[in-house]
Amino acid sequence: MKAHKELILDATRKFHVDASDDRPFIPGTTEIWPAGACLDEHDRTALVEAALEMRIAAGKSSRTFESRFARKLGHRKAHLTNSGSSANLLAMTAFTSHLLEDRALRPGDEVITVAAGFPTTVNPIIQNGLVPVFVDIELGTYNTTADRVAQAIGPRTRAIMIAHALGNPYEVAEIARLADDHGLFLIEDNCDAVGSTYDGRLTGTFGDLTTVSFYPAHHLTMGEGGCVLTSNLALARIVESLRDWGRDCWCEPGETNKCLKRFTYQMGTLPEGYDHKYIFSHVGYNMKATDIQAALGLTQLDKLDDFCAARRHNWNRLREGLDGVPHLILPRATERSDPSWFGFALTVDTEAPFTRAALVDFLENRRIGTRRLFAGNLTRHPAYLNQTHRVAGDLTNSDIVTEQTFWTGVYPALTDEMLDYVVQSVREFVGAHT
Ligand SMILES: Cc1ncc(COP(=O)(O)O)c(C=O)c1O
Repeated sequence: MKAHKELILDATRKFHVDASDDRPFIPGTTEIWPAGACLDEHDRTALVEAALEMRIAAGKSSRTFESRFARKLGHRKAHLTNSGSSANLLAMTAFTSHLLEDRALRPGDEVITVAAGFPTTVNPIIQNGLVPVFVDIELGTYNTTADRVAQAIGPRTRAIMIAHALGNPYEVAEIARLADDHGLFLIEDNCDAVGSTYDGRLTGTFGDLTTVSFYPAHHLTMGEGGCVLTSNLALARIVESLRDWGRDCWCEPGETNKCLKRFTYQMGTLPEGYDHKYIFSHVGYNMKATDIQAALGLTQLDKLDDFCAARRHNWNRLREGLDGVPHLILPRATERSDPSWFGFALTVDTEAPFTRAALVDFLENRRIGTRRLFAGNLTRHPAYLNQTHRVAGDLTNSDIVTEQTFWTGVYPALTDEMLDYVVQSVREFVGAHT
């Protein structure tokens, strides 16, 4: 049996070489994707091995990944989920748990968030019957500021949930301090910023809970997947319960009676001794990931530092190459931060003699992939027009982003040759239109 497995894994390594695309870069023909998975022979063999062993549900690899990832990101606990959006939903829902007693969020309570970003940073607020309070962002960093958040705090404000924009940390130390001072919970959506630091400390370590996505565009991938991390063990228990059907029991699947009290609990109005495995203390979900995903996560995790270094290198190459180009607002790192970038954002100046559409069209025709700053101003989307919300201040920059901003890729598979072609193309377009 073992011999057969080794043969298959060996053949997988050889297949990886056959399947690899080693065609040379041809400017204007080769796609320059804005984002994508970086998968090597170890990733492929890990997936095949997990499939051979038919580890089809969450198990050993999931638990190993959770403990290694938690350690890597400076936390005591990580809970693997089936997506970053699920991680966000679990994180927000955790703050509605009855276990938090007086601190639990109640329908109608407000959560401060950013208007221009990804929808599933905001959706869990609405899904829990809470009210999003939208604040504006800055152009250049594409983050909000501690001042804007401070201005937005009202009598019903109970939490803050904000994503680090395109890998660029927001003023998270200051915002965490505000949260502390006002008794608010803070969730850092770190889906786009794994490896970024603010004040020399990893993003995701300032808030009460933090979330990560493992969709292929992100710093690490499992295909689909996500994670909720925390060092607060009480919150970790709530997240786990919500993720695992809402159950009260904390035995892993396949384990029984870890607490040695499986048949002696009495909870709710259940009969004494009702099997703890089937006692539900939250209205939960099943948002677990599988061991096949976790196996890939483990081999990806070995490369995290290299991936982050490549993202920084690629962003710097674009930034230096485009320095001084007129009519474009170039991106900048938030002060005191070292971003592990997700993308390279460009905003066409409102006074520019060309439009974003024309520039994007020019780049896309050269096979240079572009993306919008996700939703732009979410309040303008059909899904949100009739949702209860509050806007604190104005959303001028969120509107500018909606109309004038796009981003191009910095992910590790991009080569210097490709990035130089992006620089040359932007310069050529702007030069021809000014
Ligand atoms: C900031 C942010 N939060 C959450 C998500 C959702 O992650 P997922 O696609 O894994 O659900 C994304 C997705 O790209 C994101 O960019």
